[in-house]
Amino acid sequence: MSGKIKSKKIVILGTGGTIAGTAAQAGDNLGYTAAQVGIGQLVAALPALASSRFELLSEQVAQVDSKDMDFGVWRALAQRVAHWLAQDQVQGIVITHGTDTLEETAFFLQAVLDPAKPVVLTCAMRPATALAPDGPQNMLDAVAVASHAGARGVVAVCAGVIHGAFDVQKVHTYRLDAFSSRDAGPLGYVEEDRLCLLRNWPSAHAGYGPLAIKNIAIEAQDQSWPRVEIVMNYAGADGRAVRALAADGVQGLVVAGTGNGTLHHALEVALLEAQAGGVRVVRATRCLEGRVLPKAGDALADSQGLSPVKARVALMLELLSKVAKA
Ligand code: SIN
Repeated sequence: MSGKIKSKKIVILGTGGTIAGTAAQAGDNLGYTAAQVGIGQLVAALPALASSRFELLSEQVAQVDSKDMDFGVWRALAQRVAHWLAQDQVQGIVITHGTDTLEETAFFLQAVLDPAKPVVLTCAMRPATALAPDGPQNMLDAVAVASHAGARGVVAVCAGVIHGAFDVQKVHTYRLDAFSSRDAGPLGYVEEDRLCLLRNWPSAHAGYGPLAIKNIAIEAQDQSWPRVEIVMNYAGADGRAVRALAADGVQGLVVAGTGNGTLHHALEVALLEAQAGGVRVVRATRCLEGRVLPKAGDALADSQGLSPVKARVALMLELLSKVAKA
């Protein structure tokens, strides 16, 4: 490390995941426990980070397997990200996260913070104890993105690919390159510390209505979050799950329809009943690519291109904003 004083900082926030996972046997890429190694240790294990032109700070915000992600962690994470971003010396933030719900956290942070600085989520498909772990390179790449002049918004970096928060989706259970940006394509690539950019950084002006919401979820300390569930269309979908959820007090439903958001007639009847009873219903698609294209006379709103899990986050935030304004 040079003796030069580094005036700007990059903050690395740890939340757990496979990137912090350990297995009893080096080389066991499946039988490991996620969220075991502290963020300080992960950073210290990467001497290459010392050559960054930024001072690197680390903070453990949570230590979870991201399949267990919850609203408490999201709130804490959003608060810490907002805290650090507000400091002039902070150039950007890196967040280590499990791959399983990374896309939901990315979307949530973009929606509530719309940051003018880079917030870069990264992850790993192999635990830290693997013979050839992918986490260290992903962290180096994430720091390269957070260091980039002009970078802004919430992005994910995995296997050298940069994905925007709106589009990123985990699409593979095992491969190191487990994410896709679906139809939109990646935002860019990290090539040996340099960025090859293909598209604009995420911003609130991407045509997604719910993203006008700022900071509401962070401030909603004592409110319980709105209950929004996801149901799916499939052969024989008869709507009984929808009626049970409505009877149980659900406030919002996202339906992962078939194709262009189409629904079994029995499921549609149940969803229209629920909507008439005050439940907010949003129609997404279970297709991996494409979006629900609305047409005149649609009785159920479409998800504006969001996948079912992101449409659920957007609907929760929308309902939360209504509670906050009331
Ligand atoms: C997790 O999502 O925390 C575990 C799986 C992973 O990170 O790949």
